[in-house]
Amino acid sequence: MDASVLLALRDPAGVPFYPIIFQVLYILTWALHAAFVLLSLGSMGLSIYGATKGQSDSHWKKLTPHLIQTGKISISILIVLGVAPLLFTQVIYDPNWYVANTLSGMWVFIFIYTLVVGYSMYYWYYYANKAQKGGDYIIGIISFAILVFAGILMHNFAVTSIMPEQWMQMYAPNGVVDDSGWTFNVNILRLAFLVSLSIPVVGIFLQNYSRFLSTRDDFDKSYISYTAKLGTNIAIIGLLISAVAFVLWMLKIGYLLNPLSIAIIIGVLVLLYFSKMNKNSYITTLVLVVVALLISGMRELIRFDIMSNLGYSIYDYPVNLEIPTIAMFLLTFVVMGFTGVGYLLSMAWKVGKNEGIFDGTKDALVSKLGKYTLNIMVAWMVIYFGWGIVILFNNTL
Ligand code: HEM
Repeated sequence: MDASVLLALRDPAGVPFYPIIFQVLYILTWALHAAFVLLSLGSMGLSIYGATKGQSDSHWKKLTPHLIQTGKISISILIVLGVAPLLFTQVIYDPNWYVANTLSGMWVFIFIYTLVVGYSMYYWYYYANKAQKGGDYIIGIISFAILVFAGILMHNFAVTSIMPEQWMQMYAPNGVVDDSGWTFNVNILRLAFLVSLSIPVVGIFLQNYSRFLSTRDDFDKSYISYTAKLGTNIAIIGLLISAVAFVLWMLKIGYLLNPLSIAIIIGVLVLLYFSKMNKNSYITTLVLVVVALLISGMRELIRFDIMSNLGYSIYDYPVNLEIPTIAMFLLTFVVMGFTGVGYLLSMAWKVGKNEGIFDGTKDALVSKLGKYTLNIMVAWMVIYFGWGIVILFNNTL
């Protein structure tokens, strides 16, 4: 393929800051998106197993609704977190993203409805499980299948976007234009690896769950050790499955001996050891975060190499520095984001650790963070809209 085609598809306005920053942010935010994709699929899948047991098992009777709740919250977070890598992708790899969205246009529409139907059904599953009238697992299975399908669609967009050399063939097979928008590509090993990661993720989550609840008197010891053991077994089996899928995928694309690939394999081995020992699952989670970042980096390396070989390097993207925009973005991300997330996390932590009702107004840290978050948000809205209005009038009057 001629690089000029790819270069012509770039935004003529250039990018507002150095491309490497967008690339780093892409890797970081995709890892966050993936973390919640994997947690939601993992906890949802396991909850279906629990739902089939109904009320017959006292441990699963407690665990299943907690897993359903975890999946429910994780889906909303994964949707929000999916927006960030989407934005960074379309800044530096806009030719890829928009071509993929055009070739698979129908699937893009279908993706939205898939998500709406899948997530709505999840709420149905949640309420059906709460009602305990039986049959809830059937609704759970359907919702699970729909949400996995959403992931397969996402995978199609990602894979199609890194096949520039075949775009022409997809657009006009045998010289006949096909503008149906039904282009669909699957790389089965890549997909299997990414989705399989939901097994170790839910395993390590369960280890954390057990560790977190171990300080509470209203959860008996046998339940704590049952969930810890279950988590360990699931994590070990899942890590082995993911490791095999990863090695096969890397072998197929010729990246097995790449330093990043080796670092991931070492990371998985360390994870295996830490999960098996289960001495401190919070440390295992930190290792998992590092491995997730490496995997996200691997995805980016594959795309970067494919594009560089065709003469498209994101580092050559024309830069049209726009300091105020970047300053606004970074300040929002760091100041508002960190304070707000810190507030929510500290509250969630304390609610979980507390037996009975937790009153945030009586907690110094939570109420302080709450006040800061509120004030920062008000200031942010004033600056954001005030600034926008000034620029709008400056440009139009
Ligand atoms: C249940 C819903 C979803 C699931 C299961 C899911 C799953 C996935 C998976 C498996 C991938 C990796 C595909 C690959 O590299 O082969 C991915 C990538 C991605 N997802 Fe999602 N996702 C979901 C929803 C969303 C939503 C709602 C957004 C945006 C708002 C989003 C944005 C992204 C982006 C930007 C990528 C990277 C695409 C690329 O690098 O080309 N996802 N998702």
